[in-house]
Amino acid sequence: MTPFSPGAPSPEGLASAAQTRVFEALPEAQSAFFAPGRVNLMGDHIDYLGGVVLPMSLTEGTVLAVAPKAQRGEGGLEVWALDAPEKALLSSKDLARPPGDWRRRLVAVLSALGLTPEAVPFRIAISGTLAGGGLSSSASFALVLTRWLREEGLGEAHDSWSLARILQTVERDHAGVACGLMDPLAIDLGTVDGALRLDCEQGTATPVALSFSEAVFALVHCGVGRRLEDGAYNRVRAKLAAALVEEGFSPDRLPPPAAPVRAAPLRHVQSEQARVWAGCEALAAGDASAFGALMDASHRSLAADYEVSLPELDRLTALARGLPGVYGARLTGAGFGGWAQLLVDRAAWPEVRRTLAAEGFPEAFLAHPGGAPRALPLGGAYG
Ligand code: GLA
Repeated sequence: MTPFSPGAPSPEGLASAAQTRVFEALPEAQSAFFAPGRVNLMGDHIDYLGGVVLPMSLTEGTVLAVAPKAQRGEGGLEVWALDAPEKALLSSKDLARPPGDWRRRLVAVLSALGLTPEAVPFRIAISGTLAGGGLSSSASFALVLTRWLREEGLGEAHDSWSLARILQTVERDHAGVACGLMDPLAIDLGTVDGALRLDCEQGTATPVALSFSEAVFALVHCGVGRRLEDGAYNRVRAKLAAALVEEGFSPDRLPPPAAPVRAAPLRHVQSEQARVWAGCEALAAGDASAFGALMDASHRSLAADYEVSLPELDRLTALARGLPGVYGARLTGAGFGGWAQLLVDRAAWPEVRRTLAAEGFPEAFLAHPGGAPRALPLGGAYG
């Protein structure tokens, strides 16, 4: 477990802290791109079973600035990874670096699109505001690169679903994380209007508006960062697959909604899928109390039945639930640390935020839908 070093999200949102960093590092940039992160509002650890999930892209994300290399003989991709912080001239040999290394992930994304770093003569600077775990910084990183390459006409072009499958393979083979399809899809298909209902089996995405009149989603960090590369994610997946087989189900499909199940991980995935459908109804009805209750139940299930919470996430969410104006609180994403998601009355948020900061949880921001990856205007805030 890595301690979380604070200060990532820009208080004013829009990944502006990352924008400032990349433009300072590469003042000669001729183009720039943004890819959002995502928060999963409901439905964790079911995407890899073909489940239906409810993610929303965020205004926080990853920013990339690009300058072409003008001089002859100046080939190759030179990257300034400002958050590492490291500068590197990448080569195909970077694929041999340890799983999860940012250089390996970057070269693996290029290679999955039919490119080598030697054949990409650019200088780029990259920085993000998604540190801390749970907001899909890896998929955001991969998608900002993909968005840029598409603009340059470099590499193979793919639709969002086949790109998601390609990036899933990159994560599995180069970061060692056997993740599902949700993260790249949530980002690539993100809208500025709300969340998405993603059916990971049928391959469909349906926009879902946020219709609460006074309630907003907020993200608060539990103080413990995490990396999925340490194997915890794969271990819970393997345990689930074994339990599914043990009870006569397919290892990579959800058990039917009404099927009796015995093992705790099966209880989680079955009930979590039901909570996604109920959550969609609560959203459609603008019923923040109902959605908040589902969030609380989801956290209990992720903690007790799926065992992906931590004492810090439990303490943060329990504390939040007890505060006036909070409808619900849950861990979001894979768990094992990182950010928690709150549904809170807009007017109560400043006080909730102050109280949580005083209790040791100072990193917090409001979650606004962030749209899809896009080009940024140079030298100004993007729309
Ligand atoms: C990570 C994975 C996703 C998903 C979530 C948990 O973010 O990348 O595919 O499994 O965890 O819902």
